[in-house]
Amino acid sequence: MRQNFNRIDNSIYHLENDQWWQPDSVLYLLKTSMNPVRVGYFAKKLFNQLKIVPQGSAALEVGCGGGILCEEIARMGFDTTGIDPSAQSLHFAVRHAKTSGLEIRYEKGTGEALPFPENTYDVIFCCDVLEHVYDLPSVISEISRVLKPGGVLCYDTINRTFISKMIAINVAQRWKRWAFMPPNLHVWEMFIKPEELKALLKLNNFEWREHQGTEPNLCYPQILYYLRKRAKGEWTYEDLGEKLLLVESTDMNIMYMGFAIKNNDVAAI
Ligand SMILES: C[S@@+](CC[C@H](N)C(=O)[O-])C[C@H]1O[C@@H](n2cnc3c(N)ncnc32)[C@H](O)[C@@H]1O
Repeated sequence: MRQNFNRIDNSIYHLENDQWWQPDSVLYLLKTSMNPVRVGYFAKKLFNQLKIVPQGSAALEVGCGGGILCEEIARMGFDTTGIDPSAQSLHFAVRHAKTSGLEIRYEKGTGEALPFPENTYDVIFCCDVLEHVYDLPSVISEISRVLKPGGVLCYDTINRTFISKMIAINVAQRWKRWAFMPPNLHVWEMFIKPEELKALLKLNNFEWREHQGTEPNLCYPQILYYLRKRAKGEWTYEDLGEKLLLVESTDMNIMYMGFAIKNNDVAAI
């Protein structure tokens, strides 16, 4: 665990200049390329399937960074809190929420030691975070502790497959011809297979419900052509994000989303 964690480079989240809301930054792709699919999927599951009413319900985002997903959670109508270990990211989150006119509580802390009492939240989101953390079992255990019985955990993460090594590591980070992420933003060994996550959720008093893959909206030759334009400086990240989106798919080889419900039987914890 420590060996793999020592290789990951989470420093982009701690930079003094805004990496989240500047359209020409890699993290802005979370807004342009990722938010549509994940927000759409979670809204379908929470509101259409589980019939959750956001007004009067408390939601927490674990690993909220600059608030790109948190703002959408607040727009859904939840009473929203975001937590992140990076004071710098939280500074930009607070500043941006003000300009968006949204009321969101932001706090500093890690998923491994959530500073909240047990059974506090109705819904917890943890997106693009689980593959970055030092101690995944502790994060899932903490999320279970602070979620109310019957509460919902919504997440997405990256699968550990040969294809994810090729695309999410080699193309995205290593091969300069196309790379659009810093070299060690992700470490392949820290990616999580869906079955591993299911097992961990079960161990932590969750009833796992569903996994749904995501894939790019374009074919790979087209993606490589666009990534090359970005790498050569002909395109910004904003240009890239306008063309390259993730969409729902049955293919879970690279990324997947899912949700799980905390069991009502609290004695089982
Ligand atoms: C890729 S960003 C995702 C931000 C946000 N969840 C989103 O999807 O827009 C990963 C975030 O995880 C945070 N993070 C890293 N280690 C963490 C930990 N142990 N507990 C909670 N958050 C963590 C980072 O500071 C960063 O803000």
